[in-house]
Amino acid sequence: MNILLLGSGGREHALAWKIAQSSQCTKLFIAPGNTGTALCGTNIVIKTSEFEKLYDFVKNESIDFIVCGPEDPLVDGVYDFFKERNIPLIGPSKAAAQLEGSKAFSKKFMQRHAIPTATYLEVDATNLEEGLQHIENTSAPYVLKADGLAAGKGVLIIQDKQEAKDALVEMINQNKFGIASTRVVIEEFLDGIEFSVFVLSDGKSYKILPNAKDYKRIGEGDTGLNTGGMGAISPVPFVTDELMAQVEEKIIIPTINGLQKDNLEYKGFIYIGLIKVGDEAKVIEYNCRMGDPETEVVMPRIKNDILDLYKAVINQTLTTQTIEEDERACCTIVLASGGYPEDFEKEKIIHGLETNSLIFHAGIKKTNDDYLTNGGRVAMVSAYGKDIKDALINANASAKNISFENMYYRKDIGWEF
Ligand code: AMP
Ligand code: GLY
Repeated sequence: MNILLLGSGGREHALAWKIAQSSQCTKLFIAPGNTGTALCGTNIVIKTSEFEKLYDFVKNESIDFIVCGPEDPLVDGVYDFFKERNIPLIGPSKAAAQLEGSKAFSKKFMQRHAIPTATYLEVDATNLEEGLQHIENTSAPYVLKADGLAAGKGVLIIQDKQEAKDALVEMINQNKFGIASTRVVIEEFLDGIEFSVFVLSDGKSYKILPNAKDYKRIGEGDTGLNTGGMGAISPVPFVTDELMAQVEEKIIIPTINGLQKDNLEYKGFIYIGLIKVGDEAKVIEYNCRMGDPETEVVMPRIKNDILDLYKAVINQTLTTQTIEEDERACCTIVLASGGYPEDFEKEKIIHGLETNSLIFHAGIKKTNDDYLTNGGRVAMVSAYGKDIKDALINANASAKNISFENMYYRKDIGWEF
């Protein structure tokens, strides 16, 4: 089979790495890809937003199906575009991708299908006063979420009442997050411990993939600014069979059934961000794709030929498949450019990348024979272990072999376990 993968991050390197292991993969192309995906297949110079150009390529190279890594093309309707042209794509339809594309949409979806989540109020210019009154009448912390896609930056958690009111006005009236925040969801603050569940759906049934936990803050001890993610572990030690059974019954099944009831076509990955409050799991967010860096620990723990799973999604025969989880734990550590998630310098020479361990490239470019930094998150170093601690020791040992000027990584990923 010939496959086209869309995207260019560490997630896409991990997806490409897994696809390339299948004996059923004849040719793998990645648009636009990165230095890591180039080790698994052939990168092509087409942006994920250039649907027509992608379609020309798909016809010329007899592509059998497409896998979409990032959310933007999905929210922009890449699934529907290729469906009209009879090319299967792993990912949700434009309408279903609204689960990630609009926080207000996803809250209404959860309410409609009785899926446990934080209570909320939707606010825009027409009911701004009501929003301000809501903040007045409730107590801190205040959770304000931009409705639309904001590259992971659209959530504010604020302690001070006046500051929360000012932020709400700035979001709605002054486009603090561009048009993404002309509508805002004010949510009840949930105090608990977070984890993520990944589900593969064929539109009728589903399979649960290995769970994971990511570490979003830049600083050790979960301090400082939010990032795209500084590390991840799988499996999550506190997620017991009992908790997973609860998540499946109260969240996954109602989500899959809800998608069908609402006629939302979904043939792809669903990322469910959860928080365990006491003994109850509640949904913090849906994403319409895999996570980054979670993919860099989830893919290594799936033993199946991933093309069997993708074929089953396309043919709606997922019930015939069984997910085979690797017994081993897997951890990943993100190597970042010093300064990230704020300003940072690029084009630092990276030493020690060519090792045998599982290193997924993100913000890297190649000039002659040198690998140079080219982004905030530069690479993800994944490693297996008999348990989380052991995997972390291995990932840290591997990370130590890599260096570039101002390299920064968290040395405490997963140490609470
Ligand atoms: P989201 O983009 O919705 O996942 O939010 C980003 C992060 O903000 C989450 O990973 C949580 O750490 C935090 N967060 C979001 N919603 C809530 C909430 N209702 N209560 C507490 N923390 C939240
Ligand atoms: N690691 C968080 C995300 O992919 O959204």
